[in-house]
Amino acid sequence: MALVTLTIDNRKVSAEEGQNLLQVIREQGIDMPTLCHLDGLSERGGCRLCVVEEEGSSKLLASCVTAVRENMRVTTGSDRLFRYRRMLVELLFAERNHVCSVCVMNRRCELQSLALRFGVDHLRYDPLYPRLSTDVSHEKYALDHNRCVLCARCVRVCDEVEGVHTLDMMGRGVSCRVIADLNQPWATSRTCTNCGKCVQVCPTGAMYIKETFSAHGEKRPDLPKRIRDGREKHTWGG
Ligand code: FES
Repeated sequence: MALVTLTIDNRKVSAEEGQNLLQVIREQGIDMPTLCHLDGLSERGGCRLCVVEEEGSSKLLASCVTAVRENMRVTTGSDRLFRYRRMLVELLFAERNHVCSVCVMNRRCELQSLALRFGVDHLRYDPLYPRLSTDVSHEKYALDHNRCVLCARCVRVCDEVEGVHTLDMMGRGVSCRVIADLNQPWATSRTCTNCGKCVQVCPTGAMYIKETFSAHGEKRPDLPKRIRDGREKHTWGG
């Protein structure tokens, strides 16, 4: 495997050609914020929280969907990047109804953690307050569009790990929604296996187990990687 040399935050680093920049950044022990990325799933490049600056370019690069290149010089933390990430978090809050105090994932939500990290204690943008529904038709799980950040982790785990592709996205922009099958109540889906992987990887309170919607509902975002590793290495039960 050919190696390339690049510079990350003034540090010379070697990486495999074609390797994902986010992975290399994290291997260096740098704490890069992400939301749509999840180990074990394909990259989506949707949330843009993982952006970096590249020397010689005015564009910001989403590191999760950028392959390393020979001699590239990137910066992972700057005032500009901090301001940009904070703005992204604010816009996510403004787009839907994220009322943490009455959310089932209060204190265990990745969006809330990002808000704390970037000092988002108020919004500089007018919230849209859309009127959105909650699908509680499923026997065990609920889908609350009010809390969804459209990271598509649920869609990808359903397709790439469970292999059923029950969930998908419908619409564009602020009208975008996660749907089951052909946009029908979740309980009527004929493809859903009730595995709950979608719930385990959801970073917010958009998907939750009905019975545990209080202090006990810890999620398992490590699940896709564990399953993938288990399948690859045949380490089940090990
Ligand atoms: Fe890279 Fe979301 S983690 S765009």
